[in-house]
Amino acid sequence: MNFLELKPLRSQLLPSVLELDRLCFGGLWTYEGYQRELASPNSHLLVMSIPPPDRLDRGESERLVGLGCLWAILDEAHITLLGIHPDFQHQGLGQALLGYLLAAAAQRHLERATLEVRVSNRAALCLYQKFGFREAGRRRSYYQDTNEDAIIMWRPGLQHPEFGQTLAIWHRESGQRLASAGWRLDLSHQRSPELNCREGKQEAPIVSDVAP
Ligand SMILES: CC(C)(COP(=O)(O)OP(=O)(O)OC[C@H]1O[C@@H](n2cnc3c(N)ncnc32)[C@H](O)[C@@H]1OP(=O)(O)O)[C@@H](O)C(=O)NCCC(=O)NCCS
Repeated sequence: MNFLELKPLRSQLLPSVLELDRLCFGGLWTYEGYQRELASPNSHLLVMSIPPPDRLDRGESERLVGLGCLWAILDEAHITLLGIHPDFQHQGLGQALLGYLLAAAAQRHLERATLEVRVSNRAALCLYQKFGFREAGRRRSYYQDTNEDAIIMWRPGLQHPEFGQTLAIWHRESGQRLASAGWRLDLSHQRSPELNCREGKQEAPIVSDVAP
């Protein structure tokens, strides 16, 4: 069983994040863009990484394999990034990351989530539909490189009483899916709320330590 860690982005990881951004999104955000996200209390940026086999071995660094970001705007979670390293797709990492991003949105007391996705991005569309996102409209010719439309999707109900149960089911199912691909997700490297406050952030901790 191989470990995966899920944790907030830290500045030391910015060079690796830029490389992952390039691989997943073709270079969407700059170094300065990510620095702004780190400084913003409204941005929640999570990374998924494979820790080095021996943490005492300073010669090896962790490998970033996933990246997800939401912006808290009023009572809405705007999902601005969700990407899994191409070598690690189709193993359940994307759905695990989305589940914990939505959990973070709920813990920030946000009511609903929204995002935009290319019409041609079947993998992402299927993933978002699986998590209750529904099409609410389109932005015509939104993506300049291909002139494609963006589908606008919304996922309501993050503060409904039953959403906690829905999250528990997602976490259990995504944990099982990861386990079947040989992964175990470790959530114990979340920063403490005290540290977040010291760094000017007020992130809510994510629910459990290890999934499932
Ligand atoms: C979209 C993305 C994050 C999915 O990550 P992933 O780790 O491969 O996804 P998972 O293995 O967790 O799959 C979860 C679900 O996503 C959907 N999915 C993933 N890949 C799919 C594909 N090739 N075709 C159709 N559905 C797919 C399915 O619903 C799948 O559930 P299922 O296996 O039970 O059918 C990944 O493809 C990616 O990083 N793409 C590039 C960046 C991107 O386009 N991000 C979205 C921008 S809006």
